[in-house]
This record gives sequence, C-alpha cells and structure tokens, in this order.
Amino acid sequence: MNLTVFGIGYVGLVQAAVLAEVGHDVVCVDIDADKVKRLNQGIIPIYEPGLEGLVRENHAAGRIRFTMDAAAAVKHGRILMSAVGTPPGDDGSADLQYVLAVAEIIGREMDGPKIVVSKSTVPVGTCDRIASRIAEILKERAREDLAFDVVSNPEFLKEGSAVADCMKPDRIIVGTSSQEAEKVIRELYAPFNRNHERMIVMDVRSAEFTKYAANCMLATKISFMNEMSSLAERLDADVEEVRRGIGSDPRIGYDFIYPGLGYGGSCFPKDVRALIKTAEGVSFDARMLKAVEERNNEQKSVLFDKVNRYFKGDLEGKTFALWGLAFKPNTDDMREAPSRVLMEALWQAGAAVQAFDPEAMQECQNIYGQRDDLLLCGTKEAALRGADALLIATEWKVFRAPSFDMMREALKTPVVFDGRNLYDPKIMARYGLEYHSIGRKAAAIVAAELTVPKEQALA
Ligand code: UDX
Repeated sequence: MNLTVFGIGYVGLVQAAVLAEVGHDVVCVDIDADKVKRLNQGIIPIYEPGLEGLVRENHAAGRIRFTMDAAAAVKHGRILMSAVGTPPGDDGSADLQYVLAVAEIIGREMDGPKIVVSKSTVPVGTCDRIASRIAEILKERAREDLAFDVVSNPEFLKEGSAVADCMKPDRIIVGTSSQEAEKVIRELYAPFNRNHERMIVMDVRSAEFTKYAANCMLATKISFMNEMSSLAERLDADVEEVRRGIGSDPRIGYDFIYPGLGYGGSCFPKDVRALIKTAEGVSFDARMLKAVEERNNEQKSVLFDKVNRYFKGDLEGKTFALWGLAFKPNTDDMREAPSRVLMEALWQAGAAVQAFDPEAMQECQNIYGQRDDLLLCGTKEAALRGADALLIATEWKVFRAPSFDMMREALKTPVVFDGRNLYDPKIMARYGLEYHSIGRKAAAIVAAELTVPKEQALA
C-alpha cells in the first residue's frame, strides 16, 4: 500500500520504518533539508534501539524514501499520515501550525481520494479543523469532487522501545465513522493485528481524547507514587516495600509506580499541560491534572534539596558526579529531564558537575555548550574522581551494579544521592557508602540497624 508520512520526527520515522518493514511503500516528507539529506545517506537523527538497521535496510530495498517534495509526496500516498510536531505554545496549549500546514499542502496537492491519518498528539477537535481546512482549499480549487476522510490514530510508542512498541502495539486506536476509511486502515495495520484484535475503533474526538487520557493517567500514577515517597520518608516507611505491596493488586499493577525524580520527556509534561488548557477552554477546572503537574515540578528538585541539606546549604566550589542525563534510559533525549533541573540548581548554588551518560553526552553539549562548571566525562568512573558526592538521575542498566569499592575510593566524601532507587541501602552501608534515595529510610538509620560489622559483611 502506498503511504506518505509527513514529519520525520520520533513518531513519524519509527512508524514509517516499521510500516516499510512489513512491505508498504513509504515516502517520508519533511521541511528540514539537512535531515532529509542525512536520512537518505542512512544517518539517523535520533538514538533508538533497532531503528538504524531498520531504516537502512528498508531504504536499500526501496521501501522507504525521504524527500522535501511535498507535492509529489501527497500524490504518492493513498494514506497520508501526519506525524508533525505539536510543540507547546507559550500558554501550554498545543501549537497546531505544523498540523494545519500539512492540511494546507494536502488540500492544494491532492488529485484523488485520500485518507488523512492524524498521528500527532492533538487536542480534541483538531481532526475536524484539518477536515475543514482541506475542504476549504478544495472548494477554492473547485475540486469538491475529491473525497477524503480524516482519521485520528494516536501513537503510543515509548522512547527507548519505540520500534518494539510499533511492531507489537498494545492497541491500535482508530477514530473514524467512515467504513471506507476503517477498511483501508485495517489493511494498513493488518500485519500488526494478526493474533488477536488490537484495533479499537471509535469516533474521532474520543480517539483524540484517548491519547491524552492515557498519558495523563500514567503521569498521575507517577505523581501519586512520588507523593507517597515523600510521605514514606516522613513516616519512616520504605516506599519500595509499599510499591511491591500495592503493585501486587492487579487493579493497581506494577507498572508506572516507580518513584523517582519526576516524569520528563517530550510527552507527559506537554500533554498534561495541554489537557489542563483544553479543560480551561471548556470552562472546566482540571484540579487533579494541576496537582499532578505541581507534584512533578516539585519532585524534580527533591534530589537537589537532599544534597543542599546534607551540605548545610554550602555548595559553593563543590563538585558533583552526575550519572545520567537523559530523561530515562535507552534514549539520548533530555527534554524536560530531571537532570537539567538538578544541574541548573547546582550551578546556581556555585557547584560544578562532572557528568556521564551512555547516550546523551552530545545532547547535553548541544544544550549547555562549553562551561567551566560542566565536565562531560568519558566513563562513569571518570565522573566520580574527586567529586564531593555522586548523584544519580537516570536508571541506565550500566549503573545498576558498579564497583562500590571503587565508588567509595574515587569520591572525596563517600556519599551517594540516588534519584532512582537503584541500590539496596543495606549493601551501600556495608560498603561504607552513605546512601540517600527516594522515599526510603535515611542512610544513617540503615547503617545503625546493621548488626554485622563492615569487614565481616564484606567477607
Ligand atoms: C510516554 C508514554 O509511555 C507513551 O505511551 C507515549 O506515546 C509518549 O509518552 P515516553 O515519554 O517515551 O512515553 O516515556 P515513558 O517510558 O512513558 O516514561 C515517561 C517518564 O515517566 C520518564 O521520565 C520516566 O522516568 C518516568 N517514570 C516512568 C517514572 O518516574 N516512574 C515510572 O514508574 C515510570
């Protein structure tokens, strides 16, 4: 099937590559000349496991092409999929200029029946706006004979497992009331809908809303758990035990109840804010969503507050090792990353940072450039050397089992502030490392509880 994808961002590129892999003939169009050129040379603009091979193989096989020629691209696809960005505007609402620009091109260039698929996360009612814009232009062209449908088909992929998520989607949400459109979309996704029915068909507005409701629900779980972690600290309980205790209830489940430094990335913060705005637009006060966002903003400062308290507000001239810059593992994305709030607060307090991340070093360099108070280190060990303490902001696998002896010896003060609860406090105490984490007993209490002397425990 001939498919055109507008917008070669995260969602567009991954979805296009996966659809090419199952045999569709995909043309990707973008306004960024450099990106198009590099993709045609096999250079992938983002780090995403499995993506590079997929794009290269399908490009070599001629099943995926990248172009800036929007007019030809519109003519190519029976399905025109829009995956352009919807960045937050100044007031937090989604900026639809790119989405409407795609509608404009489609209206101007289409010369046969089309199914327009809206993949971007867009406020409820956007598909109606896209349809009106296309209809308006067709009227200007006196081509009202050209039939089209606008279908909402939100994407649920996660960064870091985007290819796998697209290959095996939990669900395929399709918002349309047109039987013809549903038939064509079923054919497009048939390879992913084989073993059991994954497609959930509904009206357009409900499909648009489903995407926001899903992300806001997940953000709510995280903020709830972060709130519990702060309470646990004050009640002298261990949030990790509580997590296991509540997760065992299938109504709650184990997923998305990990306390940490707050959610980041390109979706949750933006979508929670956008839904608050949408609610305002219909004179509804989304009080829960506002609380979710407020808790998240506060959570991003929790680690800094612990460090600041520990050093009694005197951070001037100190150096901190930072493990993890990306907003989560398996990505180089630092958008709304808690590490940024942490680094910026440390710099503000006069401290320097020695950072290591397996993938996001270049991204960090792009964001902050050269500065005296930021040293990007080649290894996690190098970041520790001579630092006053270690701070952990991302739960990369390579941080999970470090040499604690090396850690203690490399640090000036053997103290670790872990924003992701990677280690067992008792083990840290045995290694002579003072350990502060999220929602768990203070390190001092754990150390006092140890009845086994350190040497004996290590033996
Ligand atoms: C999310 C949604 O999961 C995805 O369905 C949607 O399409 C886009 O937004 P993504 O932003 O890639 O995907 O990351 P995700 O893995 O969902 O994590 C989001 C944030 O929540 C990260 O900052 C992560 O660290 C945080 N998180 C996640 C927690 O703090 N605790 C958890 O238990 C889970």
